[in-house]
Amino acid sequence: MADKISHPLFARIYPRINAYAEAHGSLAHRRELLIGIRGSVVEIGAGTGANFPHYPAPVERVIAVEPEPRLRALATRAAADAPVPVEVLPGRAERLPLDDASVDVAVMSLVLCSVTDVPTALAEARRVLKPGGELRFYEHVRARRPGPYRRQRILNPLWRLAGGGCNLTRDTESALRSAGFTIEAIRRFDFRPGGRPHPASPSLIGLARPDPAQGQGQRAG
Ligand SMILES: C[S@@+](CC[C@H](N)C(=O)[O-])C[C@H]1O[C@@H](n2cnc3c(N)ncnc32)[C@H](O)[C@@H]1O
Repeated sequence: MADKISHPLFARIYPRINAYAEAHGSLAHRRELLIGIRGSVVEIGAGTGANFPHYPAPVERVIAVEPEPRLRALATRAAADAPVPVEVLPGRAERLPLDDASVDVAVMSLVLCSVTDVPTALAEARRVLKPGGELRFYEHVRARRPGPYRRQRILNPLWRLAGGGCNLTRDTESALRSAGFTIEAIRRFDFRPGGRPHPASPSLIGLARPDPAQGQGQRAG
């Protein structure tokens, strides 16, 4: 699997989509995602670096991994203004450029919708976490009610095309449990920017830890 992902159109429009979302509530979600974290962090699929301004001072350093070159260039620029040291690296979730047990926190925000191989990405997050480390996640997910879920499934092929491979229908809670994480905190909510529901409204913010009974994650392949 190549480490580079190229989505030039999405990379051009995502900053605008994100600016709209942040003006309508997602800024608060980003702060909530990162509240109370400390130590060393890997942010997986960092995009434009929209989380960087919200890292709290006890964070010693952030390694931000982003496979899309145009988004990575924006993240590199954002890193210069971050309140904590941030290093931006190429790479993808399924093969993180980090040693085993090397970080205290892994951060995934709006990225498990887009990675090609969710089980491998989560196994990688487990692999790089130190014992007792934590995964912070902020994701849009499949709807729990049948009607909205059916609409998500119908729309998904088009959404994937326009959204740089983003899926509306991922069951991220189940994927976390299947990957050997224990979910310690979770807030499920509908994100309705401007008061309007949209296909990616069903959302989660939470904290999960690798279940020690299931051992350290393994590098795939
Ligand atoms: C919707 S954007 C979210 C960006 C950022 N995390 C945020 O919160 O704004 C999805 C991101 O996932 C990245 N991505 C897609 N596939 C990936 C993969 N296999 N590994 C790592 N990142 C990936 C994209 O390049 C993009 O930056």
